[in-house]
Amino acid sequence: MCGIIAYLGKKVAQPILIEALKRLEYRGYDSAGVALLGSGAIRIKKTSGRISALEKILDEPDAAETLGIGHTRWATHGKPSTINAHPHLDYTGKIAVVHNGIIENYGTLKTWLQNEGAAFASETDTEVIANLIGYFYAKGDSEEEQKKSDGQNKFEWSVQRALQEMHGTFGLAIVCSDFPDTIIGAKRGSPLILGVGDNEYILASDAAAIVEHTTQAIYLADNEMVTINPEGFHTKTIDNITISKELKQIEFSLEQIELGDFPHHMLKEIFEQPKALSTCMGGRIDSRNNRIKLGGIDSYLRELTRTKRLILIACGTAFHAGLVGEFLFEQLARIPAETEYASEFRYRNPIIEDGTVVISISQSGETIDTLAAVEEAKERGATVLGIVNVVGSSIARTTDTGIYLHAGPEIGVASTKAFTAQVAVLTMLAIELGRRRHIRSDQASKYIDELSQIPDKISQILNQSDHIKQIASANIDQDNWLFLGRGFNYPVALEGALKLKEISYIHAEGLPAAEMKHGPIALIVDGMPVVFIATAGPQYNKIMGNIAEVRARGGKTIVVATEGDENIKQHADHLITIPDVPEFLQPMLTVVPLQLLAYHAAVLRDHDVDKPRNLAKSVTVE
Ligand code: F6R
Repeated sequence: MCGIIAYLGKKVAQPILIEALKRLEYRGYDSAGVALLGSGAIRIKKTSGRISALEKILDEPDAAETLGIGHTRWATHGKPSTINAHPHLDYTGKIAVVHNGIIENYGTLKTWLQNEGAAFASETDTEVIANLIGYFYAKGDSEEEQKKSDGQNKFEWSVQRALQEMHGTFGLAIVCSDFPDTIIGAKRGSPLILGVGDNEYILASDAAAIVEHTTQAIYLADNEMVTINPEGFHTKTIDNITISKELKQIEFSLEQIELGDFPHHMLKEIFEQPKALSTCMGGRIDSRNNRIKLGGIDSYLRELTRTKRLILIACGTAFHAGLVGEFLFEQLARIPAETEYASEFRYRNPIIEDGTVVISISQSGETIDTLAAVEEAKERGATVLGIVNVVGSSIARTTDTGIYLHAGPEIGVASTKAFTAQVAVLTMLAIELGRRRHIRSDQASKYIDELSQIPDKISQILNQSDHIKQIASANIDQDNWLFLGRGFNYPVALEGALKLKEISYIHAEGLPAAEMKHGPIALIVDGMPVVFIATAGPQYNKIMGNIAEVRARGGKTIVVATEGDENIKQHADHLITIPDVPEFLQPMLTVVPLQLLAYHAAVLRDHDVDKPRNLAKSVTVE
């Protein structure tokens, strides 16, 4: 969703802001803009459309402008348009703001400001922020108010006053033409990181926009703000209490977020899965002692071992990983588990009994629904564990304990390597809890051994990419697809359908295969592609029955099966194979051909795979 950038240093700001905005593109956006300061008034350039459209309307960079803010907007309040694009200038023309988040009481504030004489140009909630800061800046200089401001400058005081009136979420970068060497950043609910370089500062909603300049950063927490100028920076709460923040190392490199030889980040990340999983599991699998070591949650392992019930909460692809986790915990650890959409959990008056542990799963660690569900679960007394990729993200900081994926940055909007890494972490946790509860040591050792071979087995599947491209090509004109699986592979069917929908814009449904007969079978017409996950396992014969039902109605079967299964060949119009592994390890393999199928279908349909329409990488609004 919206991406924020601000630069203050000795270099010319405009090209730095544009490069940084390109690094934020993957978050999803529909318009972009910059505001530059240095030679007098604030100079704003903004437009709907891509950064390339913004570049076309930019003037030559001005060497005097060494400070600026920039934004990629994902529309919430007001359609994508130039007028609604950020930065927004206040009615006095002195304050410019870029914003990520939603101001819930913007309607009331807007009416009040209009009554006070403030003019509005856009439909956005962000303009209310600019105008409210501008209002306090223009009016708030009575002796009384200046006294309250405790010696701080008027700009900072006005920002604090305005933010104290705001309900909702914000990540903000703000400039004021009277202070051409100052940027203020503030955060509540939306991420904001300050990169601290050599005589330069980069404030961004995402570390991907910072690493090119520095890997040293401070992570703002909710209701905190930072004031930056050439002398340095200071951090406070928005209630004006000074706080000190620790400088942290950003844990990934520029190389990891660049495309290299791949045409798209999504394809790069699909192919990175063997390495991502090796890193995720490396150091955690202790084959000598038949154990899994999950250092981060050491002090919670006894509580987890004794837990009576697990609730997994997540959204989208992470939710599908959670569904796999449900099977894993029940089968391997014999712990009752259920998976819930985070957005439903938080509004459902959930029952948290003594001994319930909540596991939240999130790649970005910023998904607002998951974050809010974590807070809800904590408030109701649950211990909450986070399975998160982005180090230092909001969910990672809010949960009681957690396990990082260590899958490396995921830039492709369609989540791929994060899914397999989430399932790998859930598998490790389930095996370890199972070992502590009831699994014999020789059995645990066998499981651990098989798990450690998964990265190599994914590599074997990746070799079929060209074959899968041909399958996508043969079915590319079809507008309705079904994905069917059973048991551990039922969540994979959901994930396969989601992948196809989000980047190819082909309508697809994922279902537990047996459910097909209870309605969706009516959809099957001649030539409709139906993707089956029919790997070796206890439900193999049942799914063969479902394949026959589809073929009898003219459906075309694309079957993911186990290598060496000769019988399946006669039932598949197209066959993709995976190496033989126990059923509980299959999801990490069966999902890979479905990721490739969706990828190739999207490319064949000429879609921008890394920037699918309407989608955002990290969903920071409800
Ligand atoms: C789909 C996808 C989304 C995310 C979902 C949750 O490919 O990426 O469905 O899985 O928005 O995001 P995180 O995992 O960041 O909480």
